[in-house]
Amino acid sequence: MREANIDIGDYEAKMIDEIRAQVGDSDVLLALSGGVDSAVCAALLAKAIPGRLHCIFVDHGLMRKHEGDEVEAAFRDRDLNLIRVDAAVRFLNKLAGVTDPEQKRKIIGEEFIRVFEEESKKLSGIKFLAQGTIYPDIVESGKTEGSANIKSHHNVGGLPEDMAFDGLVEPLRGLYKTEVRALGRNLGLPPELTERQPFPGPGLAVRCIGEITHEKLETLRDADAIFREAVDNFAAESSTERPDQYFAVLTDTRSVGISGDVRAYGYTVALRAVKTKDYMTCEYVPLPHDLLGSVAVQIVAECADVGRVVYDITGKPPATIEWE
Ligand code: XMP
Repeated sequence: MREANIDIGDYEAKMIDEIRAQVGDSDVLLALSGGVDSAVCAALLAKAIPGRLHCIFVDHGLMRKHEGDEVEAAFRDRDLNLIRVDAAVRFLNKLAGVTDPEQKRKIIGEEFIRVFEEESKKLSGIKFLAQGTIYPDIVESGKTEGSANIKSHHNVGGLPEDMAFDGLVEPLRGLYKTEVRALGRNLGLPPELTERQPFPGPGLAVRCIGEITHEKLETLRDADAIFREAVDNFAAESSTERPDQYFAVLTDTRSVGISGDVRAYGYTVALRAVKTKDYMTCEYVPLPHDLLGSVAVQIVAECADVGRVVYDITGKPPATIEWE
């Protein structure tokens, strides 16, 4: 059981002492995903054991617009060894022709492990593996605190179980998500990382319905960036809370339209914005029609192969938050 009220400054100091005591003068490896947990874990370890943290960031090419560069920029000036692996082409080749959602997830998970293994083999003498496991992960997986369990549920970051390490370093294991964000702010991480909405491990693959191609991913990235920016601006200007998750989906449905004087046959983009406490259930957020209308105009104007925009007004259940 964890204490009810955690002071973030105290927690940080305590974990820095604990990490140093646990790893001694050894080096530590971490899989950086771009998500809040692994980012905060990396920043904390870089502070605790400067120069002895090695981060492998597998860029699978399924990130949102500019996301890979944002992650890299946030860590450029910290005392860690960041290896960014540009594996986009490799993942796209594996995904070519695949339309089944479960199959996509499986391929991405397996390929992630393969790339991570290949890269980690190039490093020698690393004794510890760090993970951004947080308190709800421990509660959900039914593990008692301190038990060595490679985090695998629901995530692309599920690492091979047979990798040989002397131990696991999990310095966020006593924190809830909001506390992890606060610790990240304390450690000076930028808001693009600390305030990031949840993003599935398989990335845009589960938001690009049907076959995944480079062109479709680019279209989705552009549409998604337009929608997120509009929602962020609206929330800031109207002092309303941002939805807990909001994103675009590129459906596989095309429909007839007019572009100039010519008949067009573009894709349909679906927008989704939800409010949720635990991501097990959610309600759709009734965003104002004028906001949705102007986003639709901008998406169709700027994304050449999109001809129609719809808004998803389904809750969970019966729908899931993601479309795949
Ligand atoms: P669903 O779509 O099941 O999503 O309602 C619930 C929450 O989980 C996220 N999600 C994932 N996260 N790997 C992840 O790390 C996944 O494969 C995955 N699938 C869904 C989703 O974004 C939402 O926050």
